[in-house]
Amino acid sequence: MYKIAVIPGDGTGPEVINEGLKVLKEVAKLYNFEYKTDIFDFGGERYLKTKKLVDDKDIERLKQYTAIYLGAIGHPDVKPGILEQGILLKIRFSLDQYINLRPVKLYNKAFCPLKDKAEKDVDFVVVRENSEGLYKGMGEFKNKGTASEVAIQTSYNTRKGVERCIRYAFEYTKKRNKRKNLTLCGKTNVLTYAWDLWQRTFDEVAKEYPDIKTDYAHVDATTMWFVKNPEWFDVIVTDNMFGDIITDLGAMVQGGMGVAAGGNINPEGVSMFEPIGGSAPKYTGKNIINPLAAICSLAMLLEIIGEDKAAQSVEDSVIDIAKNKLTNLGAGKMGYSTSEMGDMVCENLK
Ligand code: IPM
Ligand code: MN
Repeated sequence: MYKIAVIPGDGTGPEVINEGLKVLKEVAKLYNFEYKTDIFDFGGERYLKTKKLVDDKDIERLKQYTAIYLGAIGHPDVKPGILEQGILLKIRFSLDQYINLRPVKLYNKAFCPLKDKAEKDVDFVVVRENSEGLYKGMGEFKNKGTASEVAIQTSYNTRKGVERCIRYAFEYTKKRNKRKNLTLCGKTNVLTYAWDLWQRTFDEVAKEYPDIKTDYAHVDATTMWFVKNPEWFDVIVTDNMFGDIITDLGAMVQGGMGVAAGGNINPEGVSMFEPIGGSAPKYTGKNIINPLAAICSLAMLLEIIGEDKAAQSVEDSVIDIAKNKLTNLGAGKMGYSTSEMGDMVCENLK
């Protein structure tokens, strides 16, 4: 019996999670597994009423679950940073979800903003380090508020943290078994401490994987190639900050935030799955937001807990709908409401 912690969160989060849970219910029947869900009300609304974020007791509770399914965190009435740090990053760090796995896959060439690119050209995965780097929150102000103010923000990279991420990326590339190519995306020409460690670690681990081709791309060049030659990429491994930035670009290349899914993974612990788009306040409550990213995140969740066939069935259903029923993935432009989309994915499961 799987135990799923559900955090619908803010904005359109609850609407898309609702569709994901509909799909979960159907696919569990089809593939014969049992699960139970518990809803956690973490988010902006609760914070505004109670000032509560996520505390260590909440973390202990979350540790009891097989996996976590998250909608979105972010509220227009809460100052930027509070909910992100206090809820999303708090869970990622406390549960040591050290990988952020973000597939970039074009399901229908009609969604792609790039000229002359088709489904076969956009199919890669970004392995983003998810526990260190600039996200560590290290730094200081000096002479704050004066003309000689200095603000320092440190990128913190440990050998252990870098190595476990790189190892995960090699294993993932091997298991994915597509082009067997792993690209290290960094900035060795300027950030000469952090990326020296990353490059050395990458080269050392690469020796253990003679079947995997490796290469290196600076992060700025990577963004150029995402647009110019996305077909060059198979798996990309990078740090937390660069991974954050390039995966938003990746999401656009695959058709938008409406289909971009992600997993915050602790391979030895509890992982959390979320659509990578935000809480979209302006679309909230209108039943027009695209739930496919949340449904694809559910497919990733199913794969991690070992329900591979159910995961594939959900992804296949989404691909079929994306290919044959949709020409636009944008909120309000799909030709279907949020709940109709969820129903279609359910009816289409095999
Ligand atoms: C993401 C988001 C988060 C991040 C924010 C909301 C803290 O942009 O999941 O990519 O920067 O990691
Ligand atoms: Mn981001």
